[in-house]
Amino acid sequence: MNDITRTRVAIIGAGPAGLLLSHLLANAGIDSVVIDQRTRAEIESTIRAGILEQGTVEVLSQSGASERVLVDGQRHDGIELRFSGEGHRIDFAETVGRGVWLYPQHEALKDLIATRLAAGQDLRFGVTADRVEGAETDRPTVHATDAEGRPFAIEAEFVVGADGSRSVARAVVTGSSTGGYFREYPFAWFGILCEAPPSARELIYSNSPNGFALISQRSATVQRMYLQCDPNLDPNSMSEREIWDALQASVDGHELIEGPIFQRDVLRFRSFVAHQLLRGRVALIGDAAHTVPPTGAKGMNLAVADVVLLDQALRALLLEGDSRAIDAFPEVALRRIWKAQHFSWWMTSMLHVGPDASDFDRLRQVGELRSVVESEAGRTYLAEAYTGWPLASL
Ligand code: DHB
Repeated sequence: MNDITRTRVAIIGAGPAGLLLSHLLANAGIDSVVIDQRTRAEIESTIRAGILEQGTVEVLSQSGASERVLVDGQRHDGIELRFSGEGHRIDFAETVGRGVWLYPQHEALKDLIATRLAAGQDLRFGVTADRVEGAETDRPTVHATDAEGRPFAIEAEFVVGADGSRSVARAVVTGSSTGGYFREYPFAWFGILCEAPPSARELIYSNSPNGFALISQRSATVQRMYLQCDPNLDPNSMSEREIWDALQASVDGHELIEGPIFQRDVLRFRSFVAHQLLRGRVALIGDAAHTVPPTGAKGMNLAVADVVLLDQALRALLLEGDSRAIDAFPEVALRRIWKAQHFSWWMTSMLHVGPDASDFDRLRQVGELRSVVESEAGRTYLAEAYTGWPLASL
């Protein structure tokens, strides 16, 4: 192996976590190399969730990573929880004085990629990470294969696995590529994009005897909606009429404006937290470290919270030789990760109808929803978690 790139921080993965980390490190004068297996076009077109916490928006805009988020993003000051045929608004502004922004993740990714490339970031697409070595040394190394199939290595002072749920870096940190706390769910989401005006001003999370539906938005002419489904459903097996009938039944009395459906996908539900987030000079962040089910849209927001912590720890380590913050990183990051795991699990189990739910389970669920919407403490807890807890510092 004689093709070696040297840098201070090697980052595997050009998703929100890897790109934002390279940006914050560059703001502190720390060079990095970012690699990703996918092409730029694939990264920029993959459809993901659309809700950013207030803290996420502040980090993206104040760091100069995205100017567009405040211009093109739409601030939402509440959501509707719907059950038993009635809507109940959770008012974020009134309960916690904070909000969220509807800004699709792939738009944030376009901003991040453009910002990094304009700043001269070494950002390589189509590059596969094969393995990470030397975690316990001060020159950890990523062995990779470039877009032309040639092997090369990136030797760094620190390696970050921001390489998603099928992380290659995870093996060296946890001792196994799958090692972690894990939970599966007996349902999935059938997601659609359709051409239609918005059916509501804010998002609707709806529980009904027919299952769960989420009515989200993308623009004045394109809407995003999700319907609870079987994890093995073939997204092409339903006609447009069947999809609309199922959506209308699941929002139970709120009339949806229909339009042509031009995109369909099935999202699997998983909860996962890696057993370790750090070994020596290799750390895991974002989906490499944890996965949440999508209800509540915590995925990208949790990745940004990891990045804010790791950026502080790497500045202390690489600029001042102070390792206290990096030593504290896993414990501090895990506090928020487990809170977000709980919130995502809670929203999921409160709103979905399991395939073997009994009448008792259904009625208890309505009691739980009522406990939340009829109590100021309940509404405040939901609003606090949904808009995002304060970002921690080390
Ligand atoms: C969206 C996705 C979510 O998981 C969620 O909780 C809210 C919105 C979305 O894609 O718009």
